[in-house]
Amino acid sequence: MLIGVPLETLAGETRVAVTPETVKKLKAQGHTLKVQSGAGVAASVTDDAYVAAGAEITDAAGALGADMVLKVRSPSAEERTLMKPGAVLVGMLNPFDKDGLQALTDTKLTAFALEAAPRTTRAQSMDVLSSQANIAGYKAVMIAADKYQRLFPMLMTAAGTIKAARVVILGVGVAGLQAIATAKRLGAVIEASDVRPSVKEQVESLGAKFIDVPYETTEEKEAAEGVGGYARPMPQSWLDRQKAEVAKRVAAADIVITTALIPGRAAPVLVTEEMVRSMKPGSVIVDLAAPAGGNCPLTEAGQTVVKHGVTLVGETNLPALVAADSSSLYARNVIDFLKLVFNKEGQFHVDLEDDIVKACLMCRDGQLLRA
Ligand code: NAI
Repeated sequence: MLIGVPLETLAGETRVAVTPETVKKLKAQGHTLKVQSGAGVAASVTDDAYVAAGAEITDAAGALGADMVLKVRSPSAEERTLMKPGAVLVGMLNPFDKDGLQALTDTKLTAFALEAAPRTTRAQSMDVLSSQANIAGYKAVMIAADKYQRLFPMLMTAAGTIKAARVVILGVGVAGLQAIATAKRLGAVIEASDVRPSVKEQVESLGAKFIDVPYETTEEKEAAEGVGGYARPMPQSWLDRQKAEVAKRVAAADIVITTALIPGRAAPVLVTEEMVRSMKPGSVIVDLAAPAGGNCPLTEAGQTVVKHGVTLVGETNLPALVAADSSSLYARNVIDFLKLVFNKEGQFHVDLEDDIVKACLMCRDGQLLRA
């Protein structure tokens, strides 16, 4: 199959959907690869490196006009005009963006949104949410350490002792766990909160303290179990008790990293303006939920602002700030997914009996398949 890989055009998007490693593998499977000139530059991959791996270098029309297009983000209106009806598109297409999916449907694409893969063991190697959230969790701590005008580790020096930074992590999914592990390596003292009870053990195994908010009713307990590994909105009674516990921890914290998300909904507010006011001057909040409205109402998406003496970082695409590694993990996710849509002869086929293929397929033959 002719596979095209364009340069991403969304502002701030530095990642690329293939690396020389995955180009080689796709070539070995008999495919022809056309990569747009400069597609990998922001991720530290030169055109020459793609050529050495067996790809041809082309322009935007050459890459987007292929039979299959591998992308990081959903194509813009301009990019869609260069795509062929009937072409296959694989990328992070945002399964909750109804208008975006309708546009792909109207372009008559067969489109797979990799974020929609189920959270199962078989889907793990193609789980783009995990691979990218892992990097976001790491980078959030790096940014916090950079913005914070003190050190993370406890240091005993001849000039006096420096106290370890107190870090609070709210939301302990993939990004939160990596944030705990990274902050721990830097020597911080860490506390973390999540709605899901299964998280407690993971938090403690990384050397952090879990902020326990016991469930008092069956409704609270059931909601906390979530669905498909994801959180569900919690009853107000539990959220109120969580808020009281979190407020105490946030007031004493130097760094707060929030990652709490509920798929397809606005992010829950966990750090109120009052809590920000209670923080020490020079404290830092990194709000990974910024693209979903933020876990703090003072967060400004895409901006770093100082409010009440606290620096709030609302970066909306942290993996793009670590483009080389995030691209290489993403490219491996993509190639693992492609194994499910190519048969032994290397021909494209859609097996709707396969739960991963079925979940990721957003539209086909002009039909929107996502409810
Ligand atoms: P996410 O990005 O959707 O949400 C981040 C975290 O925020 C979650 O842990 C969620 O429980 C938490 N959260 C939501 N509302 C909250 C609130 N009000 N207060 C505090 N925390 C709140 O989650 P992510 O990182 O995508 O992980 C979701 C789940 O999927 C996890 O259980 C993870 O272990 C699981 N998973 C399973 C995989 C597999 O089996 N293949 C692969 C990757 C993740």
